[in-house]
Amino acid sequence: MLENNIMPIYEPGLKELVKKNQDEGRISFTTDLPGAVQKSDVIFIAVGTPSLSNGEADLQYIEAVAREIGQAMNGYKIVVDKSTVPVGTGDRVRKIISESQTGEYGFDVVSAPEFLREGCAVGDTLNPDRIIIGTSSKKAAQIMDELHKPFNAPIVITDVRSAEMIKYASNAFLATKISFINEIANICEKVGADVTEVARGMGYDKRIGNQFLMAGIGYGGSCFPKDTKALIQIAGNADYDFELLKSVIKVNQIQRYKPIKKLISILGELQGRTVGILGLAFKPNTDDMREAPSVEIITELKKLGAGIKAYDPVAGDEARKVIKDIEYCSDPYETMDGADAVILVTEWEEFKNLDLDKMKKLLNIPLVIDGRNVFDPAEMQAKGFIYTGVGRRQIAYLTREYRKEAAAAVEKLTK
Ligand SMILES: NC(=O)c1ccc[n+]([C@@H]2O[C@H](COP(=O)([O-])OP(=O)(O)OC[C@H]3O[C@@H](n4cnc5c(N)ncnc54)[C@H](O)[C@@H]3O)[C@@H](O)[C@H]2O)c1
Repeated sequence: MLENNIMPIYEPGLKELVKKNQDEGRISFTTDLPGAVQKSDVIFIAVGTPSLSNGEADLQYIEAVAREIGQAMNGYKIVVDKSTVPVGTGDRVRKIISESQTGEYGFDVVSAPEFLREGCAVGDTLNPDRIIIGTSSKKAAQIMDELHKPFNAPIVITDVRSAEMIKYASNAFLATKISFINEIANICEKVGADVTEVARGMGYDKRIGNQFLMAGIGYGGSCFPKDTKALIQIAGNADYDFELLKSVIKVNQIQRYKPIKKLISILGELQGRTVGILGLAFKPNTDDMREAPSVEIITELKKLGAGIKAYDPVAGDEARKVIKDIEYCSDPYETMDGADAVILVTEWEEFKNLDLDKMKKLLNIPLVIDGRNVFDPAEMQAKGFIYTGVGRRQIAYLTREYRKEAAAAVEKLTK
């Protein structure tokens, strides 16, 4: 597929970048691992490190590939680990390569964790905030430094274990930021403050920064859930109880169910109701469904007896593999046609410009549960929607008066 410029994942700009470099002879693809190893001076490992059932990182792919590299070696190589791996994996890779070599070839193992974000992977790769190089070898450090210089980003040269920890600590910190603002949002709903205003005010503080302060229904994807769990295991294996990170995960888990709670408190029983779902991917600009909040939300809604009509601009095919027995729609409006409510799960750009009048006409009950604060509460209220975002003040969703009003409106419309 790659040889024919077919990308196996959806990632904006990737196809064009690969094509350009293929045409100019800078990149080629092969399944011949020994051939590729023998031709290369630097070898990057980027295999998956998914979670085992106990939360620990599954290192079987790393170990397999290290063995294959060891067996294929024909001279000095730098083996760079880009996958996110527990602290100490560099030593394990070194040992496996040493044991599987057929001759005595020199090599160095480097940890250079990857920080790109899905959905903007190309931009992040070409303009990284920093490059981390963990190695105890001067020679490897020098070659890696030279290799990464054109990126024009700060290069941090450190030891292997610290490099491995930098990746986990960074992801755990970002996950903490998300759970923190989500808890602030939950409190805002109760005390009549608006989390978007709170985040705006907080963000000007340089020590806090204005990014990653968007309240919503929590993080998902292939990295934060698995890396937070893995770091708890890494700490636990070293006899340390990472209390804070455990709470971060718990808060994230609870946050996913908030839209359902809100739906029930307005609609009552969900048996026989139809719910539209806008967005299935774990975030916009990707078709990745790994740990997508939509999966748990839809599963729970189905358990409660609701029928589901869902739409995602690109993740439909991936979603079909993991979410069965729902109606997949070919545009956002179709999800709302005759639905008793709509939940916005993923903040795709196209949802920001939906025709509100059309939405209102199509919905059986004009109930919008906005899991990502995409819509303007005042506008939604003015248009006559029963609207709730996450931690918004304008329609203080949890105030008794509004809930009563919403329930009365629903009853009237249901009759
Ligand atoms: N996805 C992200 O946004 C992201 C960001 C930063 C870091 N990471 C880290 O990068 C690593 C890879 O993540 P991903 O999301 O790309 O995973 P992935 O599962 O989508 O891709 C891993 C690839 O490795 C291949 N593979 C497995 N075993 C192999 C072997 N023995 N030889 C050759 N290829 C093999 C698989 O076929 C697959 O194509 C993980 O450790 C992840 O934590 C991912």
